[in-house]
Order: sequence, then C-alpha cells, then structure tokens
Amino acid sequence: MLTKHSFSDNDLCNLLREERSVPWMENRAVYPGFFDPITNGHVDIILRGLRIFDKIIIAVLKNPKKRALFSTKDRVMIIQQIFAQEPRIEVKAFDGLLVDFARKNKANIVMRGLRAVSDFEYEFQMALMNRKLNPEIETLYMMPSVNYSFLSSRLVKEVFMLGGCVKDLVPKIVEKKLKEKLTKRRSFFPINA
Ligand code: PNS
Repeated sequence: MLTKHSFSDNDLCNLLREERSVPWMENRAVYPGFFDPITNGHVDIILRGLRIFDKIIIAVLKNPKKRALFSTKDRVMIIQQIFAQEPRIEVKAFDGLLVDFARKNKANIVMRGLRAVSDFEYEFQMALMNRKLNPEIETLYMMPSVNYSFLSSRLVKEVFMLGGCVKDLVPKIVEKKLKEKLTKRRSFFPINA
C-alpha cells in the first residue's frame, strides 16, 4: 500500500490495522559495504544503528571485479574481531543483489551512512533502485560524527601508504593489518578480493 501516491482515511485505517496485527518481530538491519578496510566512520554508523535495531547484519561485498587490498575473508574477519563482544552483530560476505541478501536474512532495512552532499546522488540512486527491486525494503541513512565526515577507506589506504598516521581513523586491528600488508608487500598495489 505504501507504493500508492495518496492515502484516503480508509487506507490509513487499514494500514494501522495491518501494523497492529503483525506479531512482534526482531528489528533487523543490513549494513552493506565494501569495507576495504572498515574505518571509524563505518564503526560510528554501526554503533548508531545498534541504538535503533535489535540486530545488524554487516554485509561485506565480495566483488571480484572491484580491486581490494584485503581479501573478502580478511575484511569479514577484521569486522568480526572488532565486534566480537557484540552479540547483536553478525558479519557475512555477500554477492548478487543486496535486496536478495536482505530478504534471505529477514531484514527489511538497509542502513547506510551519509557523510556529505557528495554522497547523496549515488546513495539516492541506489536507494531508489533497491526500492524498485524490492519495495518492502527501506533504506535508512545516518550521518556519522563530523570527525569522520571526510573519511573513506580509499583515503586511509593512501595516507597510510605514504607514511601518514591513521590512528584516530581506523580501529586498532585495521592499523595492525595495514602495517602487516605494507611490510609484506612494500606497497599497496590492490589485489582482487
Ligand atoms: O562500500 P560501498 O562501495 O559504498 O558499498 C556499495 C554496496 C556494497 C552497498 C553496493 O555496491 C551494493 O549494494 N552492491 C550489491 C549489488 C546490488 O545490489 N546492486 C544493485 C543496487 S544499486
């Protein structure tokens, strides 16, 4: 019914009746991304999400076409370690359509962060495409702390590789993994996930 353009009083009554007849369900959200690597900006959004949702499934895109520094397995493992003490978080790798992943995992909310106006166009297109693919799934946006509004995985990798400090920008385990990568490879030439 939410796909209708206007609602009569009758529609609204029916919507409220439907709402009341739905038995209590766990309020689940999917938080999708590439997370190469996860940054404090992502963590900020996840922590905000935990105030709203009973459960968050962090969906790590495994995309062989997109070049990644960390393998899918590593990206999942890093996030699992960060949230090891939080039973309401699950981390899974996914491919294919996000809406299909959300449906399989019984989540009807997709949670995303919006850092700046520059994010808007891409996010707007993605949210509407996902709604077209599955109108039952809503996308919900949250703003991270201003401390992270400039932050991206790409910039973290670049700054770290050029000798800059990323201490306040990523969780400790990410800094450690970046150091290990750089020691092994001397440079961050991207690899395929
Ligand atoms: O971290 P990112 O790169 O901003 O994450 C993008 C992501 C993973 C959310 C997006 O690429 C995605 O949902 N990919 C899955 C494929 C899909 O469902 N595409 C159609 C929706 S636009």
